[in-house]
Amino acid sequence: MKIAMHGVTGRMGTNQHLIRSILAIMKQGGVRLSTGEIQTIEPILVGRSPAKLKHLAETVATQETGHPIAWTTDLESVLADDSVEIFFDAASTQMRPGLLRTAMERGKSVYCEKPIATELESALELAEIAERTGVKNGAVQDKLWLPGIRKLRMLRDQGFFGDLLSVRAEFGYWVFTGHTADQPAQRPSWNYRSEDGGGMMIDMFCHWEYLINDLFGPVDRVLAHAATEVPERIDESGKPYRCTADDAAYAIFVLENGLTCQFNSSWTTRVRRDDLLTIQVDGTKGSAVAGLRECWIQSAASTPKPTWNPDVPQPINFYDNWQQLPNTTEYDNAFKIQWELFIRHCADDAEFPWSLASAAGGVRLAEAGARSAGDQTWVSMEDAVAHAH
Ligand SMILES: NC(=O)c1ccc[n+]([C@@H]2O[C@H](COP(=O)([O-])OP(=O)(O)OC[C@H]3O[C@@H](n4cnc5c(N)ncnc54)[C@H](O)[C@@H]3O)[C@@H](O)[C@H]2O)c1
Repeated sequence: MKIAMHGVTGRMGTNQHLIRSILAIMKQGGVRLSTGEIQTIEPILVGRSPAKLKHLAETVATQETGHPIAWTTDLESVLADDSVEIFFDAASTQMRPGLLRTAMERGKSVYCEKPIATELESALELAEIAERTGVKNGAVQDKLWLPGIRKLRMLRDQGFFGDLLSVRAEFGYWVFTGHTADQPAQRPSWNYRSEDGGGMMIDMFCHWEYLINDLFGPVDRVLAHAATEVPERIDESGKPYRCTADDAAYAIFVLENGLTCQFNSSWTTRVRRDDLLTIQVDGTKGSAVAGLRECWIQSAASTPKPTWNPDVPQPINFYDNWQQLPNTTEYDNAFKIQWELFIRHCADDAEFPWSLASAAGGVRLAEAGARSAGDQTWVSMEDAVAHAH
């Protein structure tokens, strides 16, 4: 199965998709299908920089798998090549709709990073083309396979929480502005320019949408506030630039079932919590806090009884009375798990609900969040779609 990979020289493309997923799958021999057969894969890297592509395709691929893989800078020839079955894109978000549209019109299966588009109208159009052409399609929803999230799902399925009361997520960390030589910025500068497709809401609300939907149910409405808290940063070439995108977003999502989910997302906060993403779920019978890998629980019976008294040092260590869940299975890389599912979907029609249509829901939430912030009002998901048409 020939897979064209566009945008592999980027952060996500190189680490998560090429090394941790595709080369790892090649190293294990392929993907086992329901028939028991092994589906092998043959990637071809596509991009603009011959030097970077050559390094990945020859040096990195040989280190990982023992042999080099193919690469080219001729995107058009890849899109025209009938032997390429899957077109994958992890390059700049703004190019994505055009590339996916062409690939689908040429009958290729498509798989891509999120968000599938920066605007809902274009995301819905992609979902419509996927439906019309009937090609296999999907978008990355990696957080669903994080070990911490899998543990939360297990707790929910076992009825640990009793009745769900509320959900609170804290996401983010301090991203250096680059003004200090020894603290270079650790994320790409386009992330902080809205004209280049950057912004916390468009970046993260599409993750929050599928995560909330999967664990707790569909979002009904959103109230959000976006801020550009750091106005100037230093780019990759050492030049200062004006930040035009939101670097923090504060949101309340109310679900169709009435559950309240608060999500704070910030690139301008210093971490004093268990992990870079923590999700606390409170229920009548127990609470849980999930990080990326770990999950801690406190049952009704082990809930302490605090007293408000600032005249004495706090007698309770609130981290006590929480129990860390054990690891009871192998937790493979989340991106690799989803790649294997997509390859199975293409090879033998195995189910794959993480489609472009489902990913359009994430863009819808981001757009609803942006409208809520702009208008300083609640925005319902239904209104967001009506507004896009
Ligand atoms: N799933 C996740 O958790 C996650 C995390 C971060 C980023 N992303 C998404 O992944 C995508 C890439 O993000 P990144 O952080 O790797 O960015 P990056 O800036 O590190 O990489 C961008 C890639 O796109 C390529 N590119 C840019 N403009 C191009 C052009 N005009 N023609 C051809 N190639 C071009 C670059 O060469 C590079 O390979 C974005 O859509 C982003 O939203 C997803």
